[in-house]
Amino acid sequence: MMSYIGAQKKIHNTEYIEMSEIAKIELGGKTYELPIIEGTENEKGIDISKLRGATGGYITIDPGFKNTGSTKSAITYLDGENGILRYRGYSIEELAEKASFLEVAYLIIYGELPNEEQFGAFAHSITNHTLVHEDMKQFFEAYPAKAHPMGVLSSMVCSLSTFYPESLNQDRDEEAIDLTIHRLIAKLPTLAAWSYKNSMRHPVVYPKNSLDYCENFLSMMFAMPTSEYQIDQTIVSALNKLLILHADHEQNCSTSTVRLVGSSHANLYASISAGISALWGPLHGGANQAVIEMLEQINNDGGDVDKWVAKAKDKSDPFRLMGFGHRVYKNFDPRATIIKVACDRVLDQMGIDDPLLDIAKKLEKVALEDEYFKSRNLYPNVDFYSGIIYKAIGIPTEMFTVMFSIGRLPGWIAQWKEMRANNEPIGRPRQIYTGSNERDYVSLEKR
Ligand code: MLT
Repeated sequence: MMSYIGAQKKIHNTEYIEMSEIAKIELGGKTYELPIIEGTENEKGIDISKLRGATGGYITIDPGFKNTGSTKSAITYLDGENGILRYRGYSIEELAEKASFLEVAYLIIYGELPNEEQFGAFAHSITNHTLVHEDMKQFFEAYPAKAHPMGVLSSMVCSLSTFYPESLNQDRDEEAIDLTIHRLIAKLPTLAAWSYKNSMRHPVVYPKNSLDYCENFLSMMFAMPTSEYQIDQTIVSALNKLLILHADHEQNCSTSTVRLVGSSHANLYASISAGISALWGPLHGGANQAVIEMLEQINNDGGDVDKWVAKAKDKSDPFRLMGFGHRVYKNFDPRATIIKVACDRVLDQMGIDDPLLDIAKKLEKVALEDEYFKSRNLYPNVDFYSGIIYKAIGIPTEMFTVMFSIGRLPGWIAQWKEMRANNEPIGRPRQIYTGSNERDYVSLEKR
């Protein structure tokens, strides 16, 4: 049984408010007291870090950690009930409208918006680290054309550590860690674009220092040795917003992976590579690819949206709509609200006439009006609209999660940096064993 003693006083410190409020657990006739901590947005957590020792072995169990906080963090605040998402206190609505992705990357990683001098130095450093070692081109050429770009990207990012061996011992060298951070931010778009070019068996296009971050990526993706890529600022603006909206999302699956790998003091390249692998899953970053594959399935079946909506409602039917609802946001995904506007603008600007996008619009209308979806909070989420925009600007479906990786990279880096700066211990969860009790070995002939 757990009860609260009323809060008598709060002690405010730099990270969180440690309250005198306590939780009491009664186990086996004994009462145990556990401290409560409260964050700067009044979230409360029961600190169980001493539970096992105090209770003679009791642990908590929470598959998927839906009720378990792994850390205290000052990077991103997310309120799922009210659809709030802020990076270092700034709302994503303001940042998506007024900032560039590189500014937001700086904010998330270093904690403050850069002034002109700081931003100039950061952008200059990123621009001058966009090239990857020429020897890495051989790696690309060794992959089959049908290699999934997420498998290539995860491998290539980990391989960067082999070209920068000094990055393996960076624990205390802030300057060396910063150089690795800049190299990662600068090179990920190049690695992503080159994986695409390799899959097309096209020659790679080198980064251009005259272009900004988003322009450069689009140029490396779509320019050819015989023709420049015509920069369309509507597309650049939409891409800038998409990357900002994906930049961090507190302790999601891939970020928790980066923190866990980094907690063993593995280098930043290896930790980010692990995050890319976690993001690949269709239940996480792969959802935007799954949205387009769902639209293609409906289109290939004749495009009867009502038929597939009925299938989604039918519990006996395995079909489920992808790109609707969210495990954290209860009423709407604030990122989807923003990107829907950009999506409509890109489609109008480009005069897109694509049957998949027509199907998407019909599904969106159903989800926003049909009581079945409204009552279950199955609203279109950021993955629903991001897939539509990526398809509209010509990014192939298998590259959608790669785009998510480019956006999420600053968040992964910031969370890794915070975990190491706070000297957090190596992550090592416990378990409840449910296997065989002790038994003796029986020789082969006697079994
Ligand atoms: C994300 O942005 O990482 C996804 O919405 C998944 C999540 O937060 O769990």
